Amino acid sequence: MTSSSPGGSDPLRATPDGTAAATAHPATAAPLLELSGLTVRLAVEDGSRAVLDGIDLSLAPGEALGLVGESGSGKSMTVRAVTRLLPGGAEVDGTVRFEGQDVNAMSGPELRAYRDRGVGMIFQDPRAHINPTRRIGAFLTEALIRNRGTGRREAEARAAAVLAEVGIDSPERRLRQYPHELSGGMLQRVMIASVLLAEPRLILADEPTTALDVTIQAEVVGILDRLRRERGMGMVFITHDLDLALAVCRRVAVMYAGRIVEVREAEELHRRAAHPYTLGLLGSRPSIDERADRLDAIPGRPVSAFESGPGCAFADRCAHVQPVCREERPELEPFQGGLVRCHRVAEIHSRQDQEASA
Ligand SMILES: Nc1ncnc2c1ncn2[C@@H]1O[C@H](COP(=O)(O)OP(=O)(O)OP(=O)(O)O)[C@@H](O)[C@H]1O
Ligand SMILES: [Mg+2]
Repeated sequence: MTSSSPGGSDPLRATPDGTAAATAHPATAAPLLELSGLTVRLAVEDGSRAVLDGIDLSLAPGEALGLVGESGSGKSMTVRAVTRLLPGGAEVDGTVRFEGQDVNAMSGPELRAYRDRGVGMIFQDPRAHINPTRRIGAFLTEALIRNRGTGRREAEARAAAVLAEVGIDSPERRLRQYPHELSGGMLQRVMIASVLLAEPRLILADEPTTALDVTIQAEVVGILDRLRRERGMGMVFITHDLDLALAVCRRVAVMYAGRIVEVREAEELHRRAAHPYTLGLLGSRPSIDERADRLDAIPGRPVSAFESGPGCAFADRCAHVQPVCREERPELEPFQGGLVRCHRVAEIHSRQDQEASA
């Protein structure tokens, strides 16, 4: 999975989801999710620190959007802000809209309904999110019985049917088992089943397969991708693995230091990424065709939003840096069909085009 290239015969890309617009901004449908100028500061001992710095992003109904970037870039904070599950004392600026409704202005009952039916979360480590002392059946049926008044027998029948859909054998028997009796891959399928049972319009998947073996990863991602498409659910898919994002998502947003630095259709991102950071990520992927000693790692270490100066957060690691990059913050602007946050992008690419045609 990690070394598969987009396009071609990759089964994960076989069916375009149809409902999403084919541009960097999904303009044809009213957005399912829309983040505007989303800025988050977290409380720390000596004050507060910025972790998200003006995130603009929108997602059409049924669309899958990849969110990639190095550790600490703010991927998890973004989805935590979407569900209003930020650490205590967080200060939020800007807006998060779900189907037009301002998430930060939702009342208690509205927020509960949004978390029950609007969004479903899948995390990296299912064991940390499934109560080990309760049976799988109780975990899967609880929300249906409590929030929707579904009868126990019907809830169990639906849970068993969904377990079969995520590829778990003997589903009735599994309902009576405890989490420790299931492998990590099985438990992640149970987590996916619990999200499917709630039938949300949006899935937030935060590194859903990072903790699994590579072979199991591919299976679990394949199941999630197929069922999401069949049900027409939107998804924000967070991963470190750019290839995985390109395989599963129609568009990909690249994050660096709490900002979006590039948004582009997956296929286009692969063919003509424009931001120097995205190009660095593409160049540092292991490939089965190339020897590992030829990998171009991005020099330096990633920084977080609060560590970056007034200019471009990537400036210290960028081969194209000029004084303006350190002084002025670049905006996210249209470039070759996508959006790019770089002062020098047009210059760099026109020079490269000239070199290529010379
Ligand atoms: N509870 C917290 N208090 C203060 N800072 C935090 C807290 N949680 C995360 N951070 C900081 O917020 C920034 C963004 O973190 P986030 O977890 O969103 O990154 P990420 O992109 O999900 O990284 P990873 O790929 O490692 O999961 C980082 O600088 C991190 O150190
Ligand atoms: Mg994270």
